[in-house]
Amino acid sequence: MNGHRVVTLNEFIIERQIDFPYAKGELSRLLSHIGIAAKIVSREVSKAGLVDILGEVGTTNVQGEDVKQLDVYADEVFIAALKASAECCGIASEENDEIITFDTELANDGKYVVTMDPLDGSSNIDVNVSIGTIFSIYRRISTIGHQAKMEDFLQEGAKQAAAGYIIYGSSTMLVYTTGRGVNGFTLDPSIGEFCLSHPDIQTPVSGNIYSINEGNYIKFPDGVKKYIKYCQENDKETNRPYSSRYIGSLVADYHRNMLKGGIFIYPKTASHLEGKLRLLYECNPMAFLAEQSGGRATEGGNQRIMDIKPTSLHQRVPLFVGSRKMVDKALEFVQEYDEGIL
Ligand code: AHG
Ligand code: MN
Ligand code: MN
Repeated sequence: MNGHRVVTLNEFIIERQIDFPYAKGELSRLLSHIGIAAKIVSREVSKAGLVDILGEVGTTNVQGEDVKQLDVYADEVFIAALKASAECCGIASEENDEIITFDTELANDGKYVVTMDPLDGSSNIDVNVSIGTIFSIYRRISTIGHQAKMEDFLQEGAKQAAAGYIIYGSSTMLVYTTGRGVNGFTLDPSIGEFCLSHPDIQTPVSGNIYSINEGNYIKFPDGVKKYIKYCQENDKETNRPYSSRYIGSLVADYHRNMLKGGIFIYPKTASHLEGKLRLLYECNPMAFLAEQSGGRATEGGNQRIMDIKPTSLHQRVPLFVGSRKMVDKALEFVQEYDEGIL
């Protein structure tokens, strides 16, 4: 036993509501419902290795329930929770081609829309490696009382009211921001509550981790290739060579780098000129968290990720995100060697 008082996610959300005098608790309720969905998905993720024992995907299990792929399951759980919150009038999800609007009077009165990647790092599910969920919350711009419209979702990241992720790792954590710093909560499975474990996260201004899929090296722009070589050089003053760390789940790679200091890059490649990651579901929420913790996020030039005006739901953009000095340095290389290309 120690003398520390445990602050749960819900207590924290309610305490922080004071920061939003114009709001009437809607955002708080929405965040609480995301917390509930996160616990349900976390429980299911922890059983992922048992799937073949409990019943194969596409079949019916012993309880007579359909066995679903985890990403489809996570998508459904978050949609149901957001619908139940009655504060959200629509959702855009990486798993669905079109926006989802809830056609009830209650939902049409909701002030917010949510964009999400319900299961990030899906290639890691079957091999017991960390995966996550990413979300952004925007204030709708269409008229309250009607269905959500596409314009509600195609807002610049700078308009996010809140953003965060859940990482299903050695522990399950929920990390979020409402634009007043970044806070992290760890799920205590014994009491079923997210408890404040990482208050006011500040990312180091520099670090010694670089995260990029180096298997694509041959396809990278010259500036990125040169930056990778820079990371590998010997230099005591800047603590190089850096360590290369790449999990292949953005949430997990980002989370580690935010806490330890580092840079994550998913650049454009010769075959994918827009990069791979999605602006609405992956890049904007990470950019908001990065800036709120003192870091930086751009598309490889000087344009902030959060200033990009989205033109379509599933739009992809290159992403350079992490410790401010490291992102600045990578951009120097890009500007010197790829001028006019990126
Ligand atoms: P998702 O599982 O939601 O499709 O996202 C996977 C993403 C992201 O999590 C990760 O950073 C990236 O894909 C890895 O891509 P590569 O395998 O091309 O490196
Ligand atoms: Mn993803
Ligand atoms: Mn996904």
